[in-house]
Amino acid sequence: MKKIILLTGSSRGIGKAIKNKLEKKYKIISPDREELNLSNDNSIDNFIKKYKKEKINIIINNAGINHPQWIDELSDENINETIQVNLIAPIKLIRGFVGSMKKDKWGRIVNISSIFGVIARGKQVLYSATKHGINGVTQSLALELAPYNILVNSVSPGFTNTDLIKVNPPEKIAAIASDIPMGRLAEPEEIANLVAFLIAEENTYITGANIVIDGGFICK
Ligand SMILES: NC(=O)c1ccc[n+]([C@@H]2O[C@H](COP(=O)([O-])OP(=O)(O)OC[C@H]3O[C@@H](n4cnc5c(N)ncnc54)[C@H](OP(=O)(O)O)[C@@H]3O)[C@@H](O)[C@H]2O)c1
Repeated sequence: MKKIILLTGSSRGIGKAIKNKLEKKYKIISPDREELNLSNDNSIDNFIKKYKKEKINIIINNAGINHPQWIDELSDENINETIQVNLIAPIKLIRGFVGSMKKDKWGRIVNISSIFGVIARGKQVLYSATKHGINGVTQSLALELAPYNILVNSVSPGFTNTDLIKVNPPEKIAAIASDIPMGRLAEPEEIANLVAFLIAEENTYITGANIVIDGGFICK
């Protein structure tokens, strides 16, 4: 029987590439924003109630937002929404669906983090807070869930060719690319390949890791 994946944020970008890569081998529950709005607690609760009986084997917390602001211009709305979508929602989804994995003594959880959970840049206070936070969640859960054979990892992309980066003007994107040792942005499919390995049967021992996939950017 196909294993069941819960994947967030699959309408575009990295999530879409993950869905395309995995949809033949797995059954994927990939709610759109109408079915699961991660910035809304009621929506999360209703979604968990609706799918509680599905035996979810794998969770991929991919959806994320970044609205860069300097600290003195940071709005309460941005603070609340970014922490809610990038950190609180993934924790609630894992809490809601980990039960069937524990019963099964098998599970995989991948949290899509970021290089900004490892290194710092201007205007990234909030985004970095959530990505460092999710890495802490990954490590803590890896300890808690290892006895149940549930492997929990973070994947931290560098600059990747999606809408999230396309908010920048083309000259800025070109400058970013030239600053990356590989000389280009990542393609979403390259991130999907890594996620595919981490959730597969072949991964039997990687847990609690934060795997950076950034074309060498943070080595500089
Ligand atoms: N692109 C990069 O350079 C980069 C680098 C490092 C890490 N990442 C991380 O990779 C992940 C995916 O990023 P991406 O670049 O693929 O982003 P993207 O192209 O902007 O897509 C974001 C996805 O998240 C969904 N989403 C956003 N807010 C949501 C909400 N409130 N409820 C439900 N879904 C919501 C979007 O759905 P809608 O279509 O409905 O808006 C979309 O499917 C994120 O966690 C991001 O932080 C990206």
